[in-house]
Amino acid sequence: MNGKFVTIEGCDGVGKSTQVRLLKERFEREGIDAVFTREPGGTPIAEKIRGIILDAGNSEMDGLTELFLYEASRRQHTLEIIEPALQSGRLVVCDRYIDSTLAYQGYGRGLDTDMIRKLNEWAMGDAKIDLTLFLNVSSQEGFSRKGGANGGDRLEKEKSDFYERIYDGFLTIAEREERVVKIDASGDKYSTHEKLYGYLKDNGYIR
Ligand code: TYD
Repeated sequence: MNGKFVTIEGCDGVGKSTQVRLLKERFEREGIDAVFTREPGGTPIAEKIRGIILDAGNSEMDGLTELFLYEASRRQHTLEIIEPALQSGRLVVCDRYIDSTLAYQGYGRGLDTDMIRKLNEWAMGDAKIDLTLFLNVSSQEGFSRKGGANGGDRLEKEKSDFYERIYDGFLTIAEREERVVKIDASGDKYSTHEKLYGYLKDNGYIR
């Protein structure tokens, strides 16, 4: 596959969706060809699975069930969108991918990380990530941007502990995997955008 595969990761509340949108708009303005896609979702089947996972009404969902759904959605998305785009030499920018599963289901929910790595490999097949941009904002700041953790009741505390585990998980992944680059996303959205765009440009992902 001669295209390039870039994933963008980060905790909830770090402004990831905004950054992906700003990149997409800039690429369009500058005529840079890229496939923008997201997880969970990205294809009709995968979007249906996304609906099941993110449906607040499915509160009794088991953690493993949730994991399998993320992986099922990923498999379909990879086969239908990511692999064909890479094969035709295009740049793929994916909002969340395998590291989200390791961070959220593994480090966050406590499922076995070795098992998740294996499932990720199965779901990815022949696709290979070239670069992962991790939007780095401390878990506390991200959580308060989301409007959480002010009251400090038990549930809020649980949530903030959960986000802290996820954040630490991302940092662990960043240390283990050479492809992961941490981008400081604590400033305003335009300066973060320039850092992302600049990294892609300086490293030959875009011209
Ligand atoms: P989404 O509305 O897309 O949020 P965001 O804009 O933050 O990406 O919801 C995705 C949610 O799913 C987010 O809370 C992270 C979570 N998630 C997992 O727990 N595991 C995964 O493998 C993926 C891809 C996402």
